[in-house]
Amino acid sequence: MNVAVTAGPTREAIDPVRFLSNRSSGRMGFAIAETAARQGHSVRLIAGPVTLQTPPFVERIDVESAEDMYRAVAAAVPWAQAMILAAAVADFRPAAYSPLKTPKDSSSRTLLLEPAPDILGSLRHPLGFSGFLAGFAAETHDLEEHARKKLLAKDCDLIVANEVGKPGAGFDSPDNAVLLLFRSGRILPLPLASKTSIAASLWQAVEEAITQVPSRP
Ligand code: CTP
Repeated sequence: MNVAVTAGPTREAIDPVRFLSNRSSGRMGFAIAETAARQGHSVRLIAGPVTLQTPPFVERIDVESAEDMYRAVAAAVPWAQAMILAAAVADFRPAAYSPLKTPKDSSSRTLLLEPAPDILGSLRHPLGFSGFLAGFAAETHDLEEHARKKLLAKDCDLIVANEVGKPGAGFDSPDNAVLLLFRSGRILPLPLASKTSIAASLWQAVEEAITQVPSRP
């Protein structure tokens, strides 16, 4: 099977030296890519700026911004049978890019933001992806309820729900604890473990779901 995985943060440039980004380390997406490749799948890893080594037998495409990631994901649509979107993509980006470094000429400054492309939300429409689609949901509260809404709103087969804001798991941590919500209604909690171990259980559940669900027309 051909599998595309996104991982890491995006960087939204303000000027040639400054950008908006987030704390994502990319570890979860890299661990999923590594696991899928070990199981013999062809894996394309679309990675934001991270300091991780490319897992063996994985094709890696480095990107910076949400726009770059959108283009790389769109290019993978005709190729991929499964997409796992683990990247922490910016929801907003600066409305204007200044080609010159902005000077410190006032005591306060307003940065106007505009929405960045919603990659997960574009995959079914307008991109027309009909394969197995998994997204992540980072939530601070009401995990299951918010994740279920995302599953339906983004027409996913799986949402991997992460409770963020708790120490020891999630962003920029070697460990994670997640709740898997499948389109079929199956719910699988994966308690706190290393991201490698979470990736192995997650990938096994994905393979089970793909073999059980008939492919879309
Ligand atoms: N995502 C995306 N493009 C964006 C933002 C997020 O593709 N511009 C993807 C992420 O890769 C993740 C999923 O959407 O798989 C959910 O991200 P999250 O930030 O939890 O949810 P949002 O849809 O942005 O909703 P909200 O911030 O309102 O909770």
